[in-house]
Amino acid sequence: MTTDGLPEIDPRRFRNVLGQFCTGITVITTLDPEGAPAGFACQSFAALSLDPPLVLFCPTKGSRTWTAIERAGRFCVNVLAEDQRELCARFGSRDPDKFAEIPWRPSPLKLPLLDNALATIECTVTTVVDGGDHHIVIGRVLSLSESTPSGRPLLFYRGQYTAIEPDKTTPAPWRADLEHFLTTTTQDTWL
Ligand SMILES: Cc1cc2nc3c(=O)[nH]c(=O)nc-3n(C[C@H](O)[C@H](O)[C@H](O)COP(=O)(O)O)c2cc1C
Repeated sequence: MTTDGLPEIDPRRFRNVLGQFCTGITVITTLDPEGAPAGFACQSFAALSLDPPLVLFCPTKGSRTWTAIERAGRFCVNVLAEDQRELCARFGSRDPDKFAEIPWRPSPLKLPLLDNALATIECTVTTVVDGGDHHIVIGRVLSLSESTPSGRPLLFYRGQYTAIEPDKTTPAPWRADLEHFLTTTTQDTWL
């Protein structure tokens, strides 16, 4: 038991069980006030709200990129494609020069867009909430783009990179009953 009477959770078991939850992977970037790019690999990204348009991500409290984002007040979410594993490993490391030989361009909002990302989502930080050893950062979306034609996403599952089946890139047809899925939480509309 912990000091507040709650059950102890073994860290390895926590990792193994939570690893069953498969996610996409992003690299979240910013430009610091001196114009230097910063970024880190991040799977804890999610769409949060449609009206207003909000997203969230969770950087560890020791993240150097978070320090740069906090200073800049803005960030860009780059959604990685299946063939960007090496790039992901670079941004998941503590390499002091993560952007060396990585093709990127600054957006009109002065945020680093990585070449060949499936999508980019530019945001301004609106709220930071305590999340244990991480922060929960909420951002208001300012600008969105997606690659055409769309490639396949890079996935992270049980501590390893993986990918979807080759023919699964076509988005599902538009369904009016899902139009408000981000803001409606009743059981029959959250699909
Ligand atoms: C696939 C993958 C997903 C990751 N997801 C997160 C995450 O959601 N939050 C986080 O703080 N770190 C995450 N990391 C770890 C950071 O990318 C890593 O600690 C990085 O060195 C942080 O760099 P920084 O200190 O320059 O920000 C992830 C790493 C990988 C490879």
